[in-house]
Amino acid sequence: MFKSRTLSLVCGAGLLVASLVVQAQSSQLAATPPMGWNSWNHFAERVTDADVRAAADALVSSGMRDAGYIYVNIDDTWEGTRDASGVIHPNSKFPDMKALADYVHSKGLKLGIYSSPGPKTCAGYEGSYGHEEQDAKTYAAWGIDYLKYDLCSFIGIMKEKTGDEHSQQAFAMQKAAYEKMHQALLATGRPIVFSMCQYGWNDVWKWGPEVGGNLWRTTGDITDRYSRMAEIGFSQAGLSRYAGPGHWNDPDMLEVGNGGMKTEEYRTHMSLWAILAAPLLAGNDLSKMSKETLDLLTNREVIAVDQDRLGKQGDRVWAEGPEEIWAKPLSGGAKAVGLFNRADSPRTITLQLKDLGFASSAKLRDLWKHEDVEAKNGSYSVQVPAHGVVLLKVRP
Ligand code: GLA
Repeated sequence: MFKSRTLSLVCGAGLLVASLVVQAQSSQLAATPPMGWNSWNHFAERVTDADVRAAADALVSSGMRDAGYIYVNIDDTWEGTRDASGVIHPNSKFPDMKALADYVHSKGLKLGIYSSPGPKTCAGYEGSYGHEEQDAKTYAAWGIDYLKYDLCSFIGIMKEKTGDEHSQQAFAMQKAAYEKMHQALLATGRPIVFSMCQYGWNDVWKWGPEVGGNLWRTTGDITDRYSRMAEIGFSQAGLSRYAGPGHWNDPDMLEVGNGGMKTEEYRTHMSLWAILAAPLLAGNDLSKMSKETLDLLTNREVIAVDQDRLGKQGDRVWAEGPEEIWAKPLSGGAKAVGLFNRADSPRTITLQLKDLGFASSAKLRDLWKHEDVEAKNGSYSVQVPAHGVVLLKVRP
């Protein structure tokens, strides 16, 4: 009797400690914007187990893992069918998800997966509708560390049940669907980053944290063209106050290295995403990456802007026609400052230090050139290439 009571006290305390550990871990989930790789932008529906292993290998051999790129995320089209008990199985492109997770973990990386609150994913594969708890358990059993949850066909359910997918009732259904998966993930006891993908509907930045989102897409899909990347990136003005440790605005994955933009345009992409404290999920074929692409992805000084421990998103501070200046507060009173030229020809852009609250004695560093530069009489003028950027760190 005494023994069994002691045992149950010990077990109870053990469970309490375990659940506190999980809570502490999940509050540290995505303490800085998640970094890694996602299969969609390059491989789309063709992605296989071998591609994911090759991406994991390349993250390590290229040095990207050591620069912070930790998550290896499988996007849509891994899903197979459910068995008689409703358990989801991968399709033939992914013979053994647990073995794949073990492989990825053995490299010091984490594995991400993808699903939808609807019956079908965007590419028409099996979604989690009606199987949320079961799927969360399956993911945890495989060793999954990150879930991208994509609205897709749930829009159809919202429309069917409320008559209008944009109604308040539909919005309530959508929130409930995300909250349901959030609870299901929590119940597994495994820390799993929850990435919401619903294209920014209903100002998701205002309620994403409420339903457990560690990040949420703020826009529709990116493409590998300057016009689309710029449209998405520069449209983030005004959203900075909604991001912070554990909950980030997500202007979509990187296209760097996919071939559709010029080097200066990819440099703009990286710089803007860093100032936005955006998740940095490379979307190229890492196994066939040029030195130039690797250099763009792994500039430590630029990554440090994105990952700064203050966790503040930057915002637009000045614009005149195609010239824009964006600034991101960094720890230690410094700021990252991007001078962006959206025009089709080079332009000289001038930064007035006092406009950012700095004295004329402030120290400037060009983060792409890895070189200190000097302001004159409290201002810094520099020629910025077409569609390009000069990214500075300014210290008091
Ligand atoms: C949506 C998402 C994309 C990708 C595809 C997969 O379009 O926004 O990022 O996940 O679905 O089908």
